[in-house]
Amino acid sequence: MDQYKELSKIYDALIPEPINFFQFYLEKIREKDNPTILDFGCGTGRLAIFLSSYAKEIDAFDISESMIEKGMNKLKELKIKNINITVDNFLTSQSFTKNYDFILLSGGVFEYFLTPEEQQQNLNKIADKLGNEAKLIIDIEAAPFISNNTTKHLYDSLPNKSTDEKTSKVKVYQKRAYNFEKQLKKDSLSVNLNGRYYNIEYISRYTYLQELRYLFEKCNLKIIAEYGDFLKNKINKNSQYYIIEAIKGV
Ligand SMILES: C[S@@+](CC[C@H](N)C(=O)[O-])C[C@H]1O[C@@H](n2cnc3c(N)ncnc32)[C@H](O)[C@@H]1O
Repeated sequence: MDQYKELSKIYDALIPEPINFFQFYLEKIREKDNPTILDFGCGTGRLAIFLSSYAKEIDAFDISESMIEKGMNKLKELKIKNINITVDNFLTSQSFTKNYDFILLSGGVFEYFLTPEEQQQNLNKIADKLGNEAKLIIDIEAAPFISNNTTKHLYDSLPNKSTDEKTSKVKVYQKRAYNFEKQLKKDSLSVNLNGRYYNIEYISRYTYLQELRYLFEKCNLKIIAEYGDFLKNKINKNSQYYIIEAIKGV
């Protein structure tokens, strides 16, 4: 199911990047000269495009055709040559034959693995594709109620964007419902973007930090850093994110 079919139409105008999001990932990948990167769940390619001048090659893929279509158009427009962008399914695909210096699941991609089994299958395969000195980085929203996560659920102005969407006018009403047994959250957005209305729904899964630690270890991934935001503050009860950096375990 392409949860992003409707959202893809307005993703770039709607979804604000967290503070220091791009700089955080840039600093990480610059630990290596000319790294190769796998951008897992690249969406419309916002991060891959930003990183492309600092990388040798980026394989960017997403399960959503509509997000990739947007991404492809942007690459064409910007004439970027070192990003290979495709629709793909990591678990069933035969295309991921290389080892990468970095595997990135940015902007909450991990939250779309909706069961612990799916999380584990993906982490196992990721561990398999990580070279010996390579890094995996994921960011997810912090689990609700454990943290005082104060994500704004109602906002009426756009963050600064580098596209003409800067001048857009957007009003969003976001409702969130939880299934606590399955740790699922369903977001329903009513969006008015420049006078056009969109109703968008998507389901994602929240994961507790202890669970993440357990899963990573089980999948032979050794956590080397944990941050609560993109400014690299430690995780505490007010953290909005869990950002996990890992290498292959021994
Ligand atoms: C919130 S967006 C983040 C996109 C991008 N990484 C960014 O930072 O802007 C989450 C993306 O994950 C993709 N996704 C969800 N499940 C996926 C899967 N199993 N394989 C690949 N992509 C997936 C969605 O289609 C969506 O484009």
